[in-house]
Amino acid sequence: MLRFPGRFPLALGTLIVSAVVAASGAEGMLAVRAHATGGPEVLQVERIAIPQAAAGQVRIKVAAAGVNPVDWKIREKGFGRVISSEAPWIPGFDVAGTVDSVGEGVSGWRAGDTVVASLQNAPQGGYAEYAIAPAEDVVRAPAGWSLEAAAGLPTVGTTVWRYLVQAGGIRKGERLLVQGGAGGVGSVAVQVAKAHGARVIATASARNADYLRSIGADEVIDYQAARFEDRVSGVDIVFDTVGGETLARSLAVVRPGGRLVTVAGRPDSAACEAARVLCIGGPRPEPLGPALREIVALAEAGKLALNIDRVFPLEEAAQAQELNRAGRTRGKIVLRTSR
Ligand SMILES: NC(=O)c1ccc[n+]([C@@H]2O[C@H](COP(=O)([O-])OP(=O)(O)OC[C@H]3O[C@@H](n4cnc5c(N)ncnc54)[C@H](OP(=O)(O)O)[C@@H]3O)[C@@H](O)[C@H]2O)c1
Repeated sequence: MLRFPGRFPLALGTLIVSAVVAASGAEGMLAVRAHATGGPEVLQVERIAIPQAAAGQVRIKVAAAGVNPVDWKIREKGFGRVISSEAPWIPGFDVAGTVDSVGEGVSGWRAGDTVVASLQNAPQGGYAEYAIAPAEDVVRAPAGWSLEAAAGLPTVGTTVWRYLVQAGGIRKGERLLVQGGAGGVGSVAVQVAKAHGARVIATASARNADYLRSIGADEVIDYQAARFEDRVSGVDIVFDTVGGETLARSLAVVRPGGRLVTVAGRPDSAACEAARVLCIGGPRPEPLGPALREIVALAEAGKLALNIDRVFPLEEAAQAQELNRAGRTRGKIVLRTSR
């Protein structure tokens, strides 16, 4: 199976060619493609062939696609992995929409079913009118949610489930500090931790304090007005979504025997050992589909909501990425297709 950006490469050329040959309908689909690494100008809105679902895949008519920091990080730097021969590629790991067709061996889905999907293991991304997803990473969309809101769930939801619940082992009664509580990942972490019976402290700028309380944070620290180390100590877990200096300073507020979980960098293993803190970061092996199912179940149980900060039309993907890159997103930014 292809995985982009890491595994994008070898088969991508073949895939695009075969998609062009197999275009269903003369009009094709609108897609946003990056033609090289670089600034927002490398993203182009194009009409290309509609891809076909191969064995084990589901084709989704995309209603909305989530925007994540990883999208513009790959666009800018390819994370050192996307090279020019892999371009053009369609960004975006998150979609919500309706099942359009299924490949050989896929059962359980009917055309028109509303779904969310993670495209981290897909041949291409979701900034398009149609997307192909591995069947195991497609999940029924949460009942009662708009598809725009649902499109924000896959990356942030699976990240929190895999890092905080599965790897971090958050338990009832624990005290947790969420660094970056108002962002996409942080806001889900606050709610998932509350659903597990934790006491949650979160950092954010002052403008997000009421928002954080509204999603369940017990305490909010304005990181711009105070050093968090002066306000909190001895927590069972820090869940970090900020990285850099914030991650380095976070170790000091974890109790010995506690955990430091980060999705935004690599903890210093020697410092973690010296502090007797279990540090968790870097790629995780837990599969995406089961994690997404758990997150959808929480959403349907009313224990998880996503604030949609702003919706852009698909054609304005570059502006959407640049707004997210500014680092002030409250919840999620999503793209809406017009079909
Ligand atoms: N490893 C993985 O699998 C994985 C998966 C998903 C995301 N990530 C990474 O996790 C990071 C966060 O992703 P995201 O989607 O949550 O990003 P995001 O939604 O763009 O985060 C924006 C939020 O960060 C807050 N923030 C910025 N600086 C802060 C600071 N110094 N202290 C506290 N809060 C701060 C902002 O709050 P204010 O406006 O109040 O400052 C804003 O609400 C990114 O680096 C992303 O690449 C990793």
